[in-house]
Amino acid sequence: MQTHTLLMPLDMHLHLRDGVMLENVAPLSAYSFSGAIVMPNLVSPVSSLKDIQEYKQRIMASVPNDYFEPYMTLFYKNYDKAFLESVADDITAIKLYPAGITTNSEGGVSSFNIKEMSETLEAMSELEIPLCVHGETDGFVMDREAEFMSIYELLASSFPKLKIIMEHITTKEAVEMLDKYENLYATITVHHLLLTLDDVVGGMMMPHNFCKPIAKRPEDLDALLSVALKAHPKVMFGSDSAPHPQNKKESCGCAAGVFTAPIALQLLCEIFEQYESLDNLQAFVSDNAQSIYGICPEFKEVTLEKRTFVIPQNYSSVVPIYAGQAINWAIQTVD
Ligand code: DOR
Ligand code: ZN
Repeated sequence: MQTHTLLMPLDMHLHLRDGVMLENVAPLSAYSFSGAIVMPNLVSPVSSLKDIQEYKQRIMASVPNDYFEPYMTLFYKNYDKAFLESVADDITAIKLYPAGITTNSEGGVSSFNIKEMSETLEAMSELEIPLCVHGETDGFVMDREAEFMSIYELLASSFPKLKIIMEHITTKEAVEMLDKYENLYATITVHHLLLTLDDVVGGMMMPHNFCKPIAKRPEDLDALLSVALKAHPKVMFGSDSAPHPQNKKESCGCAAGVFTAPIALQLLCEIFEQYESLDNLQAFVSDNAQSIYGICPEFKEVTLEKRTFVIPQNYSSVVPIYAGQAINWAIQTVD
């Protein structure tokens, strides 16, 4: 039987939520990942030292073993330097949302005024805290990410020592931006390596494929594959796995988010094998992230085997991508 082993898989963009949802989804990520960058967009965003420490404790209490590191993030506001110094040891990154652009982002940034942001971003550069960005404008939905490129350019050129992560990129414009500025990096989800807009609204509307940023055109998918499959050193896997209860997805006013965490590695094996790139998967799911973020996760060895695996219809109240469909890879062992 064909197998493929991954060491210390990392999910560099994960939504774990809180309360019962956290208890349901955290063990699923902890099973197959060594660690994850945990998003701060809770109903009341993670924005103080107390918030960070208490949320981390709730996450740790929800996972059944010690082999999962939640890399904590703070919700971006124009913080002063003294505050950032006081939280620097407790966070791995700060996550910036444009105001109102996605789930629980109302308290985000409403204008990119470099002068107003400069104390925070200079301090982050000095303290070596990366800035993770949800890069979308409020323009036409298919153009939002491409329109945001000028803001990435402004940030990258104004703060050349700041590591800026373009989160969950979906366009060829973002792929092209990677090599333009030394301090720009990106995460890519597994669903954006599989879906185009056709899989969301091309036939019947598919709520479980709907997320922000929305899946784009075939040529954008090709551009994402071109950097992911060769594990371009500036790209990392970040699932953006975003659980919503089934009734919030299959409803009038469908919540944005695709749930992939428990099947992400299996799907990645399938994609990388299909394009004869399995040898590059280790760098995409762990090594690149370790060097970009300078992190050293605890040892975990995940072996996948090539056999038919039917994706469950649901994980508690959450429906995953491709629910009920058969894929070709399954997890064999985790050590
Ligand atoms: O689809 C999304 N869901 N995109 C995001 O940026 C946020 C996420 C969520 O929190 O549900
Ligand atoms: Zn996200």
